[in-house]
Amino acid sequence: MNQMLSNVRIPATTGQFNLRNYEETYQSFAWKDVEKEFTWHRTGKVNAAYEAIDRHCELGRAEKIALHYYDSRREESYSFLDLKRLSNRFANILTDLGIVKGDRVFIFMPRSPELYASFLGIVKVGAIIGPLFEAFMEGAVRDRLADSEAVAIVTTPDLAKRIPTKELSHLKHVIVFGDESQLEDNQLHFQSLMDHASEEFEPVWVDREDGMLLHYTSGSTGKPKGVLHVHNAMIQHYQTAKWVLDLQENDVYWCTADPGWVTGTSYGIFGPWLHGVTNVIRGGRFTPDDWYSTLEKYNVTVWYSAPTAFRMLMGAGDEIVKKYNLSSLRHVLSVGEPLNPEVVLWGMKVFEHRIHDTWWMTETGAQLICNYPSMDIKPGSMGKPIPGVVAAIIDDEGNILPPNRMGNLAIKVDWPSMMRKIWKNPAKYDEYFRLDGWYTSGDSAFMDEEGYFWFQGRVDDVINTSGERVGPFEVESKLVEHPAVAEAGVIGKPDPLRGEIIKAFISLREGYQVSDELLNDIKQFVKKGLSAHAAPREIEVKDKLPKTRSGKIMRRVLKAWELGLPTGDLSTMED
Ligand code: WTA
Repeated sequence: MNQMLSNVRIPATTGQFNLRNYEETYQSFAWKDVEKEFTWHRTGKVNAAYEAIDRHCELGRAEKIALHYYDSRREESYSFLDLKRLSNRFANILTDLGIVKGDRVFIFMPRSPELYASFLGIVKVGAIIGPLFEAFMEGAVRDRLADSEAVAIVTTPDLAKRIPTKELSHLKHVIVFGDESQLEDNQLHFQSLMDHASEEFEPVWVDREDGMLLHYTSGSTGKPKGVLHVHNAMIQHYQTAKWVLDLQENDVYWCTADPGWVTGTSYGIFGPWLHGVTNVIRGGRFTPDDWYSTLEKYNVTVWYSAPTAFRMLMGAGDEIVKKYNLSSLRHVLSVGEPLNPEVVLWGMKVFEHRIHDTWWMTETGAQLICNYPSMDIKPGSMGKPIPGVVAAIIDDEGNILPPNRMGNLAIKVDWPSMMRKIWKNPAKYDEYFRLDGWYTSGDSAFMDEEGYFWFQGRVDDVINTSGERVGPFEVESKLVEHPAVAEAGVIGKPDPLRGEIIKAFISLREGYQVSDELLNDIKQFVKKGLSAHAAPREIEVKDKLPKTRSGKIMRRVLKAWELGLPTGDLSTMED
């Protein structure tokens, strides 16, 4: 990182904020204090969809806009009462289909009001919701539905083609949102069912520790793992939305993330709605003009996005910003990848706003280390732990390291939104907690004397491309399914726009010659099998790949080759 920039400080803002005295709150705060915001305080039972939507109808917000939805074809607004009724209808549909608490129900569709109504309806019946990115291709969809033994899925006619129903014996119901004429046999029509469903529904009251949400994410080995979150996570969604997002009653909030990613659920759904705040959802893909015009159109006050997006906007230049009136904006945040100091300084220049970096993971369920309005920002730092969370840099034995020493970024267990399970894989779950009393993130970082944390990289080989986590193993496995590929090793290659891009090193089977056509075909093969974001942007063909004597591809050697760095200890490498 740029040492010059690391000494810069951007002073705390003086607007309205919730965490005025970080040190004092950090000392005195207890998660238990937050519980009184929710019904279990009175009843012992809970349902996160009730807390996020229905509760506000009883608190005088029934007619308040909960959702502004906008894409190139639709422009609609829904009140909290509208969302209560729509999600009730969907909950009734699921109940009529025999879906009960604990069943896994997936959503595989582009962002739309129907996605959000379905999501809430699934939570209302006590089922476990599994949101998928629309970019997923057949292989990725199959892996997730099979692993979780999903019983139902909500999708669109086009995306339904990527669901291999014949191979998924547990999958009983495919509910399709779209033109009825495009439906295939055995598919259910979303709109017809909704038209006939009642808008009255009593939420299924569950325990705080009951499963609610299953997000699949990548590690360095094996297939994507199902990270299970429970209703209890809402305590932290609520509290961080207050402290970090700084949400207030009259805010208009826009989180640009898709619910296929944890940011799009924790902070695209629960954070704002648990506070009864108006939420903007923009569908489709967007150009820089679309970004700025959305901020202007809805007078967005709080904006949560990602470094890739900010870098893309920075690349589009400063002139375009002047075309729009962004005066409503009060608070800007970022998550998902390292936020370059340059981007923070650019944000100060063009928006006159600080971009607040936040650090957390699919597994952590909610923000853990953040920059707050009430504290100075040191560009390049992820900030400090939220009250109620103890973070430290530890060595491989679990000893806490002093300031400025690089090591494993670890969090003392536990916190309310911590994952409760890796689906059907207790051994994988335990790996995170192998050092007694600590959750190890897989990130390396250091903490400075003032308690600010600075991200340094991943400890493992997980790739972060445009904020999406990609497991190299999954890509390698797909590559070697291609008839021309003998061996494959995949790494993240630094990229100014995307953070990292996926680069594959391969060796070819006998009888195949390198050609642009072949390499293109291989890229397409991964794209069709997994998803566009998992496909390598670069492929380099080698006669042989570096391997350990036990036959494991040495990604660290590939990375050293790529970066022109020393390859380090090669004693385990085969000759
Ligand atoms: C990375 C995202 C640097 C990190 C909510 C982490 C970050 C992984 C930051 C989790 C940040 C996330 N600065 N790196 N502010 N935030 N990361 O599960 O490597 O998609 O372990 O969750 O993204 O990615 P995930």
